[in-house]
Order: sequence, then structure tokens, then C-alpha cells
Amino acid sequence: SVVDHVAGYDYGTKELATSPVTMEELDQLKQTITFDPEDERYLRVAGEVLEDQTESIINIWRGVITATPHLAYYFKDAQGNIDEDYKIRVKERFKQWVLDVCTKPYDQDWLNYQHEIGLRHTHEKKNKTDTAAAPPHIPMRYVIAFTAVVNDTIKPFLAKKGHSLGVIEKMHKAWCKAVLLHVTLWTRAYCDTAW
Ligand code: HEM
Repeated sequence: SVVDHVAGYDYGTKELATSPVTMEELDQLKQTITFDPEDERYLRVAGEVLEDQTESIINIWRGVITATPHLAYYFKDAQGNIDEDYKIRVKERFKQWVLDVCTKPYDQDWLNYQHEIGLRHTHEKKNKTDTAAAPPHIPMRYVIAFTAVVNDTIKPFLAKKGHSLGVIEKMHKAWCKAVLLHVTLWTRAYCDTAW
């Protein structure tokens, strides 16, 4: 499968640690976000719509990061040069993530990988997967704040396959809730009892 070729994508592997978040906590978090079966259905539709657009989507997000020096910083080495290998490898995992958000069951394997993604933004694991020489930690505030970009910029891509405005709205609502769920789970890597 395509997944085999994504370097560092350890979803579902047995080396992956169990998330400290329980399935019950996940369930309560979903309820809090009001992520419901209708959202799940529209995420599946979104997955079909986005499947062949992931490269363009990531390029938009990358463009925003590159144009924002304090964010571009996290992909650069100590000399201020962009680590291109790092960017290429992370890009493939990012593309996979867009599809996973829409198509994967939110089960224990999925939960475990969310914690891993959280850790990969922190001192704990950033740079390790790709032996990169970039700064070792992304502040939590930027990860949360970047959801604005991820949620805003997805809309034109959702609109590209001829769905009605009503369906596009429902896909978008489902996407925004799903991203909020992901990022909230990632913040678990940044805090312990405060979570
Ligand atoms: C890694 C998503 C915020 C920089 C990743 C990955 C995903 C992702 C899916 C790859 C995970 C994997 O290894 O499978 C997101 C989303 C964000 C967000 C959805 C916000 C809504 C940020 C911000 C920065 C950033 C604000 C700062 C520039 C990075 C870097 C990596 C990464 C440098 C590579 C980490 C490593 O060394 O493994 N992100 N991210 N991300 N992200 Fe983010």
C-alpha cells in the first residue's frame, strides 16, 4: 500500500506506545465537541473529495508557514537554512494525515498515533523520526492557533467536486470539529495533570 512508502509513519505499529488518553476520555471529548455520526458520515464524503488534492492542500499550509518567519523557524537548522529533507518527509506524513482524519476509525490505534503526533511537536520527539537538526520544540500556542489556517483553507478544496453548498457546509463543519478533536488530543503531550 501507499502507506508503506511514507517514512516515519508509524500508525498502527506495535512499537507505538498506548496513548495516556483513555477511550472513555476520547468519548467524552467527542461529546464535548459534539462530534456525532452525521459528522462522521460527512467526513467520509470529505475523504473522497480530498483524496487527490492532498499535495495542493499541504502546499497551501506550507506557504503560510514559509511566509511566517516565527513558524518557518521550526523547519530550519541552526544556520537558518531550511532542512529540505525534513520538509519532504514530513510532507508525506501530513498528506497521509489529511486522509486519516477523514477515513480512519477513531479507535485505539488511531488514539495512540494522535499522542505520537503530539509528542512529535515537542521536546520529547520532534526531529527524532527524521534525524533533523531543526529547533526541538514547537510551542503549544502555535499548534492550537494554526487550526485557523487548517480549517479556513480546506473549504475551497471541499468545494471542488461539485457538491451542493449544503453538503459542502456539512463537510466543513465535520472537518473543523475533527481537527479540533485532533489538536486537543495532541495537547496531551504538552501537559499532564493540567490536561
Ligand atoms: C508534523 C499537523 C501545527 C510544524 C506534523 C504532522 C502532522 C502535523 C500531521 C506529521 C505527523 C507524523 O509524523 O505523522 C499539524 C496540524 C497543525 C500543526 C494539523 C495545526 C492545526 C504546526 C505548527 C508548526 C508545525 C504551528 C510550526 C511550524 C511541524 C513540524 C513537524 C510537524 C516541524 C515535524 C515534526 C517531527 O519532527 O516529527 N504536523 N501541525 N506544526 N509539524 Fe505540525
